This record gives sequence, C-alpha cells and structure tokens, in this order.
Amino acid sequence: MRTTAIAAAALLTAVTARDWVALAAARAAADEPRACGPNCMDLRTPYLESSGWGAARYCAAPPCFVVRRLSKTGGSFLSGVVERVVARRRRAVIKDDVPVPCAYRSNASLAASFFVGVVRNPCEFYASLAQDVPEQAFAEPYGAAEPWFRGPVVTKAELRATRPQRNGSGPAPAALRAWLDATLRGDLGYFSYHFWVSYVRNECVDTDMTASDRRSPCPRDACAPEDFARDAAAVDAAALADCWLHTETLLADLETCLRRYVARAPAAAGDVDWSALAALAAATPAEAAVAVNVDKRKRPDHPHGHHGYCGAYADAIADVVRRADRHIFRAFNYTTCCGAARASIVTSG
Ligand SMILES: *[C@@H]1O[C@H](CO)[C@@H](O)[C@H](O)[C@H]1NC(C)=O
Ligand SMILES: *[C@@H]1O[C@H](CO)[C@@H](O)[C@H](O)[C@H]1NC(C)=O
Ligand SMILES: *[C@@H]1O[C@H](CO)[C@@H](O)[C@H](O)[C@H]1NC(C)=O
Repeated sequence: MRTTAIAAAALLTAVTARDWVALAAARAAADEPRACGPNCMDLRTPYLESSGWGAARYCAAPPCFVVRRLSKTGGSFLSGVVERVVARRRRAVIKDDVPVPCAYRSNASLAASFFVGVVRNPCEFYASLAQDVPEQAFAEPYGAAEPWFRGPVVTKAELRATRPQRNGSGPAPAALRAWLDATLRGDLGYFSYHFWVSYVRNECVDTDMTASDRRSPCPRDACAPEDFARDAAAVDAAALADCWLHTETLLADLETCLRRYVARAPAAAGDVDWSALAALAAATPAEAAVAVNVDKRKRPDHPHGHHGYCGAYADAIADVVRRADRHIFRAFNYTTCCGAARASIVTSG
C-alpha cells in the first residue's frame, strides 16, 4: 500500500503547493488519512516527496526511532551517530526543513514511533547561528511585511567585519547583541520561534530556512504571532516528544533515549549497536567526528577555533536571551546563559 502511494506521489512531484492544497482537500473529502497536522504532514504527500523526502528516508520496520533535528544543535554529528548505531530499517532522521510525517508523531500511533527531539542552550544556539548562518534568523519568515519586523537586518558580512583582528572566533559581542535584538519576534526569541515551527506547529514551518518564500502548504490557521505567544508560554517537553536530547550531553542522552526506545519496542533490541555507541562515547570529540565522517567543525564539542566561545558573549546577551527564550529555559531546565541544563529528561529517570 505504501509502495503504491509512493509511486503515485512520484507521478505528482511537479505539483505546486497550491495544487497540493486542492489535492489535500479532495483527499480529506474522500475520507483518506489526514494530510496536514496537527503538527505534522501526511507521509505520502507529493509535497513531502518534492521536498527531498525520498522513499530512501522511510523507516521500514516500525516501531521506529525517529529523531527530529533542529539547526545548530549538533544535527550533522547526531545523524552520523544514529546512522551507525540504529539499523537502517528502524530509524528516521528528519531535518527541520521538512515537516514531520504524521505517522512519526509519537501520539499518532504509539506503536509506530518513538519520537526524539533535540535542544540546546539558547545562548549557545545564538553564538553558533550568528557565526554560521545569521541570515536564517531573518528569513523564517521575516521582512517588513511580517508583524514582528523590527530591523535593521544585520548581514553576515557586517557581523564578520566585527571579528577582533587577532582573534579568529566569532563576531564582536556588541555586534552579536545588535543582531540578536533585530531577530526578536515580539518579545520572544528566534530560537523559541524556530522551536515552535519545528516541534509545536509544524504546519507553520518555512520549508526553506534561508529565503522567506517557501512555506508548508498546510492551512495556516494557527500561525499568527498570538498563536506563537500562547503556545510558547505553554511549552511542555514531555507532551512534544518521547525523549529529549540536549546538545551539551548528546551521547549520554542518546543512550538513555535508546534504552527507553528498546524498552518500549523489545523487537528492536537487536537493531541497536550498543558497542558502536559506547566506542563513540569513549572517543575524543575529534575521533568521534572522524568515526562518523563529519567535518571537524561539526565535532560534538564545537571547538573554539571555529565557534566563538559562548562564554565570551554571555555578558552581552544573557539578559535578552533569558527574557526572550524564557519558556525554553524553563521547559528544558536551562538556568545559565551557556552550558548544560540543570537536569535532563534523562538524568531524572
Ligand atoms: C498529542 O497528545 C497531546 C496530549 O494528549 C495533545 O495535546 C497533542 O495535541 C497531541 N499531538 C498530536 C500531534 O496529536
Ligand atoms: C576573542 O573574541 C571574543 C569575542 O569578541 C572576546 O570576547 C575574547 O575576549 C577574545 N579572546 C581573545 C583571547 O582575544
Ligand atoms: C527537567 O528536570 C526535571 C527534574 O528536575 C525532569 O523531570 C524533566 O524531565 C527535565 N526536563 C527536560 C526536558 O529535560
């Protein structure tokens, strides 16, 4: 049945988002499975297929270990680890530029998936984003037409130009602060916004994170700033995923999440390579990056030569980040600007 749906989807890969909305309506009228949300999109939609979500990414043998990636939280490294530790047929790793297929949401069908999210200390996130892709915070969506536009937009070149001469790290703290101020969505932070579209209201996602013009074709009934503000205040980690990874404690959290997955899905026990995970955990960050074949820039400890120290920015940004991303701090147990959470879903059992 799935094969048929994929074949049908392949014929339709050229449909536009507008056609797709009509198709989704027809499907709903015909009482076929829900095409959009809440917080997900039907796996079989041509839209997902045309977004690069190819059949090769399906998990073939539910219950699946499903990881939802988030930009700048160590996703490349995490993907490399999951690919080595969880058998192909049991895993699905979904980047944040495609909607999450509904079948993979934890409460779509508890038997079908174990859904894992990843978060990072918001200050660390901003230090990393400002260094690598500061324009993302102005694109999703952002512009003079958006209700939260405040400007001025700070470009990557402008940020780069502020780098201290004899110090190869990130932009100067005052420049990073100016960029951060400009990226706020009302009184909330861009990280909270990106978290919201990735984990809470997937139907509101922008499927191109670097241009403000490619939105999910799902109905945008609850994508307004007031919806964001209301949902952000109500963020409840346990309701959004079966398990959460913190970037700062990634491999330890992953191990605990995998143990919970196997406890729920005993049939998958033989599909987790515990010794491969233990070897990665015992390796140095540089060795681990080589072992999973990611660029050394993406090694799990985010070495200082590339990223500015988060600590170098804390004085400049802590007040605004702790206020703007207060709901993330609360929901994920972060108590300091930079550094690991006080407790994780994992350490508290
Ligand atoms: C999952 O269940 C929670 C709690 O029952 C609910 O609030 C949430 O909307 C559900 N999510 C989905 C995607 O159905
Ligand atoms: C490097 O740059 C950061 C960010 O501007 C600054 O806070 C830090 O003090 C600098 N370190 C050195 C050794 O100059
Ligand atoms: C936050 O910490 C509490 C214990 O203090 C724990 O129960 C909860 O799971 C943690 N939340 C997350 C998302 O890590």
